[in-house]
Amino acid sequence: MAPEIQPDSAGVSQLQGLPAIAGGLAARDSQRPLVFGAPEIGTAEIDAVTACLRSGWIGSGPRVAEFEREFARYKGVPYAAAVSSGTAALHLALVAMGIGSGDEVIVPTMTYCSTVHAIVHAGAKPVLVDCEASTSNIDAGRIERNISPRTKAIVVVHMAGRCCDMDHIGEIARRRGLRLIEDCAHALESSYHGSAAGTMGDVGCFSFYPTKSITTGDGGMLIVSDKRLHRRIKILSMQGMTTDAWIRTRRTSRNRTVAAGFKYNMTDISAALGLAQLPQVEARWRQRQEIWNEYNGQLKDLPVGLPAEPEPHTRHAYHLYSVVLGERFPLTRRELVAALRAENIGSGIHFEPVHRQPYYRRRFGYQAADFPAATRIGERTISLPLCASMKVSEAAEVSGALYRIAHHFSANQGSPAARSLRERVESYALSKR
Ligand SMILES: Cc1ncc(COP(=O)(O)O)c(C=O)c1O
Repeated sequence: MAPEIQPDSAGVSQLQGLPAIAGGLAARDSQRPLVFGAPEIGTAEIDAVTACLRSGWIGSGPRVAEFEREFARYKGVPYAAAVSSGTAALHLALVAMGIGSGDEVIVPTMTYCSTVHAIVHAGAKPVLVDCEASTSNIDAGRIERNISPRTKAIVVVHMAGRCCDMDHIGEIARRRGLRLIEDCAHALESSYHGSAAGTMGDVGCFSFYPTKSITTGDGGMLIVSDKRLHRRIKILSMQGMTTDAWIRTRRTSRNRTVAAGFKYNMTDISAALGLAQLPQVEARWRQRQEIWNEYNGQLKDLPVGLPAEPEPHTRHAYHLYSVVLGERFPLTRRELVAALRAENIGSGIHFEPVHRQPYYRRRFGYQAADFPAATRIGERTISLPLCASMKVSEAAEVSGALYRIAHHFSANQGSPAARSLRERVESYALSKR
């Protein structure tokens, strides 16, 4: 059965027409582009930031403390530490646990560069591991063969909001005496077999970059259950000092510098934004789930690999909707990005893996052949717009544009794929007669 196209999405004539890159009408008006990962900022956020600006205290202070308390409550953990970015959170987690020069850290190659930068900045050596072809998550079955006497920790990344195989990875970490850090930049709302993402290892690290589930402009958070580790993280995040400026306005306790720490603290302006966004997390998650389901229904006849279904007894954060272009897809990923841009539709790439990045290739000599799954996905994956500010009809617009693009280019190749895509477009047209 042909999927239902919303009346206000790409119309039948558009579906039959040329894609914008070939001279057709763009799916979106250039004044109303579909921005990839647009943040949702409403009056609550604007009022909260304005109140902070008027309060006379904009640096780290009472709002940061409240955001930490509220975030810890949301995740069901005793301690949280707000910082200036997700990258800062990862770096602090490693340094606070004493990981540094001479140590090795296991990390997936399929991640954002800064997961690995954090290891390099800590002075340790990243040991990259390939991903599962079906989920893009670290291949747990390949972890042990990469553990050496120098290995001190495993960093996992819950890609797109789908938790890694944490039963397996947690068991390896416990048995081999390794620290476990969860990069939850995509996984604010995720859970796995009853445990919230970020609570399954020693430290959970979150990002509040503008494209994330909630944003503070830029910002991050660490969650821990170990009180002493939390104290170390707080001190290291504020220049290695035992008190911050807000505390010094209220207490006369002596401020001592006990480590060469970092300037990683979050400001109250950012925390005000975060506090206004946190109550909206669940509603936004539901909205993204709807968009995700709409894409799943619409795109199933395109020659692309759709995201793996969420695993039973887990919760997917639906942070990214990433597809992998199949061999029969008539355009390269680069061409498709351009074709979507011509439709005024943004897209993302998650990710070109770390072993393909020039710096990492040069410094550590990584070879593509050692990471076949991540290499293939890295060349063929594209993430479609997915955020809570989007309507379901806009997901249908994106799907319509994808079919038009695929149809046009397949038709010109005269392949069997072209015929099926043409039929697909025709069935769209018939369903709207
Ligand atoms: C998987 C992953 N880890 C870490 C980060 C870094 O977060 P931030 O940009 O807040 O430093 C990102 C950011 O996009 C990410 O996607």
